[in-house]
Amino acid sequence: MNGYPKASQEMNLDLKEEHIAVRDAARDFAQNVLKPTIIERDNAQRFATEEIRQLGELGFMGMMVEEQYGGSGMDTVSYALAMEEISKIDASVSVCMSVNNSLVCYGLQQYGSEFQKQKYLRPLASGQKIGAFCLSEPEAGSDATSQSTTAVDCGDHYLINGTKNWITNGNSASIYLVIAQTNPEKGHKGINALIVERDMPGFIVGAKEDKLGIRGSDTHTLMFQDVKVPKENRIAEDGFGFKFAMKTLFGGRIGIAAQALGIASGALELSLAYSKERATFGKPIHQHQAIAFKLADMATQVEAARLMVLKAAALKDAGEDYDLASSMAKLYASDIAMRHTVEAVQIHGGYGFVKEYHVERLMRDAKITQIYEGTSEIQKIVISRSLLKD
Ligand code: CAA
Repeated sequence: MNGYPKASQEMNLDLKEEHIAVRDAARDFAQNVLKPTIIERDNAQRFATEEIRQLGELGFMGMMVEEQYGGSGMDTVSYALAMEEISKIDASVSVCMSVNNSLVCYGLQQYGSEFQKQKYLRPLASGQKIGAFCLSEPEAGSDATSQSTTAVDCGDHYLINGTKNWITNGNSASIYLVIAQTNPEKGHKGINALIVERDMPGFIVGAKEDKLGIRGSDTHTLMFQDVKVPKENRIAEDGFGFKFAMKTLFGGRIGIAAQALGIASGALELSLAYSKERATFGKPIHQHQAIAFKLADMATQVEAARLMVLKAAALKDAGEDYDLASSMAKLYASDIAMRHTVEAVQIHGGYGFVKEYHVERLMRDAKITQIYEGTSEIQKIVISRSLLKD
């Protein structure tokens, strides 16, 4: 059982051969490379440096980047399938993959200059370097227009000052996309997106967060003290920074929706296997309706989430508007990830509460999918505004 009800996965979704190949390669990597060390890395809060290097070599760190810039030239559907498979086993690795692919690489490919693509996108897409996306601040998480980090225009360069919080890949990255306010009087139209290199003077990696879940991911506070950034490192025109953040985040939400889907489908696969092995009252527990109905709900909702994720990805690939579909997919997939990982622990009983059985980690990892890249409440704002727009 691989978690894909055959009828829908192979027939209705019309996946091409290359999609199946990418999905299978990601599944093999997750099972053979990530699974053996995941419990140790989660306990030690250890970033998977070597595993992510291998992921880059396989082309999974710049999946949607054109080959001429060092990427794999794949579509968003392939990316979503790979994210699901990696996330079934290891959401700490998949969030690194997601940020690098859909926030950093996608943003640079879509809006960067040729100079920026050659200098920064190429090493990021080929997996030689890791990127980070720096939007959130101590006082600006959901309310993202309230940026207090400043980027003062000094002619041929900007001077950045401020603090960014909860930055994924904070210490492992070497290229940072930083959102900062240049003209406060213009509100969100005064915000810029700037490329900062790790070794620029005044850039400081602060404390590492000690987290409930995705403990193997590398989440840090970052400080900027008079960091001098050349003008050529500004992405697109002056004042485009907030739109840049929004446009990349909507693609990012497909990645996080696929991550949440992976966590939920991982919980389903483990629960199905366990329900066949474990017997109580003289029969395997899946023969008890209390367990069988839980499995039925999980499978149905995982399937619904998968359809939503693939729809959002397919819309993006077709060049259609995908903002609403990505918000809906993220809202739904993250909610079922939370609900069904709790159910998976319940199905496993006492075994579910110990690390060896993996479901307690999935439950801890699921929670963040309702928070980052736009909380569930932010997705509801986006969805309701879209419904009421006309
Ligand atoms: N595409 C293009 N432009 C967009 C856009 C989109 N999808 N969404 C909004 N905008 C534009 C609007 O058109 C508007 O511009 P104009 O005035 O020119 O029309 C501008 O952005 C401001 O939009 P709003 O007035 O709608 O702004 P708002 O203050 O009401 O907030 C919001 C909008 C959707 C709530 C936004 O603030 C938001 O998405 N917040 C959540 C931020 C977020 O996701 N943070 C996650 C941090 S990153 C992270 O987690 C990464 C990680 O490490 C894992």
